[in-house]
Amino acid sequence: MKDIRVNLKKYPYHIIIGRNTIKFLPALLKKLSIGKDACIITNPAIKKRYGSSVSRLLRAAGFSDKFIVVADSEKSKSLACAWRVIRNLAAYDKNKRIFIVALGGGVIGDLSGFIASVYKRGVGYIQVPTTLLAQVDSSIGGKTAVDLKEAKNLIGAFYHPRLVLSDVNFLKTLPKRQIKSGLAEVIKYGLIKDKRLFSFIENRYRDILSADTASLEYIVAASAAIKAKIVSLDEKEEKGIRTLLNFGHTIGHAIEAAGGYLRYNHGEAIALGMVFAADLSQRLRLLNQQAFKRIVELIKDSGLPVSARNISLQKVLNAHYRDKKFRGKRNRFVLINAIGEAKIKEGIPLKLIKKSLQKILLPAYLL
Ligand SMILES: NC(=O)c1ccc[n+]([C@@H]2O[C@H](COP(=O)([O-])OP(=O)(O)OC[C@H]3O[C@@H](n4cnc5c(N)ncnc54)[C@H](O)[C@@H]3O)[C@@H](O)[C@H]2O)c1
Ligand SMILES: [Zn+2]
Repeated sequence: MKDIRVNLKKYPYHIIIGRNTIKFLPALLKKLSIGKDACIITNPAIKKRYGSSVSRLLRAAGFSDKFIVVADSEKSKSLACAWRVIRNLAAYDKNKRIFIVALGGGVIGDLSGFIASVYKRGVGYIQVPTTLLAQVDSSIGGKTAVDLKEAKNLIGAFYHPRLVLSDVNFLKTLPKRQIKSGLAEVIKYGLIKDKRLFSFIENRYRDILSADTASLEYIVAASAAIKAKIVSLDEKEEKGIRTLLNFGHTIGHAIEAAGGYLRYNHGEAIALGMVFAADLSQRLRLLNQQAFKRIVELIKDSGLPVSARNISLQKVLNAHYRDKKFRGKRNRFVLINAIGEAKIKEGIPLKLIKKSLQKILLPAYLL
């Protein structure tokens, strides 16, 4: 079991990672002393699989529990859904000391964190992430959000959980496509900060894809440690340190948007974005050819795409101009000098960006 601390001034918190760590839930909650009445926000599929065991653990330790179930879809990250959950919370919350448990993937985590941040001007919440992506990324760092039709994650706040409890046993029931999606983020951590993690995935990608819990525990812990450190140094993304986590995301987000959020899931789009960023790094003579080849090879081995067909380059370019992280008129990309070493570059010539985009966006005649 691993215990990683996110060092924040106001409410530092712990990330507990391991196999069957869910059994520590009651003891950890007692230590936090954030309330007696657990409101568990989850979706029907996760409730069916894990609801009764979580409920049993809580009740045996004297907590009350109420499940609030939302649909299993990105559409649940909406103000309308948040409103329904809040009405439910308010009806339940009479003479109680409630706290929120986000039991699920990134959709549940982002929605629950957002609700926790606004209900009664903020109630305590914990993250119990059940997808690889949520365990390595979305449950850590306090970014909460719901989507608007204009863009994803447009409404939200920084509001940190009081605890992240990651049990890798949950990942045994996760569909393979979701494992791959989370693995893209893990590869990202390797590329920006940890060449040992990158090599570990090169050696163990087969075990990871078949949900071997020891391998999963290693990659979740290594990734969470990197994210925790970065968030501790630059909580609100003001110092250019947290920006490094955006490696592969500028173009990745644009590809997700250009595909109408249907064609590629987050990890698949990020995989394409990472190939783009590595190619651009090579064109700018930051990264050598051998490292570039290793990156493309690992992304392929992980069952993730390295090129896309029938996605318009212009659409991607247009979407990337709308990136929240754009600084005025100057573009800004996270690139790499080597595997494990990231740097930020601004004002990259459009000609080079287009060339690297052509590397990942294949023209229709190659179909
Ligand atoms: N807050 C952040 O910092 C941050 C970072 C990255 C992504 N995100 C957000 O995360 C969301 C994506 O999260 P996600 O990839 O976890 O998707 P998700 O929450 O939609 O979960 C993916 C699917 O897996 C199912 N599932 C979850 N746990 C399972 C389990 N243990 N066994 C079987 N099935 C299970 C879910 O029901 C769902 O169908 C996006 O909305 C994205 O914007 C947020
Ligand atoms: Zn991401």
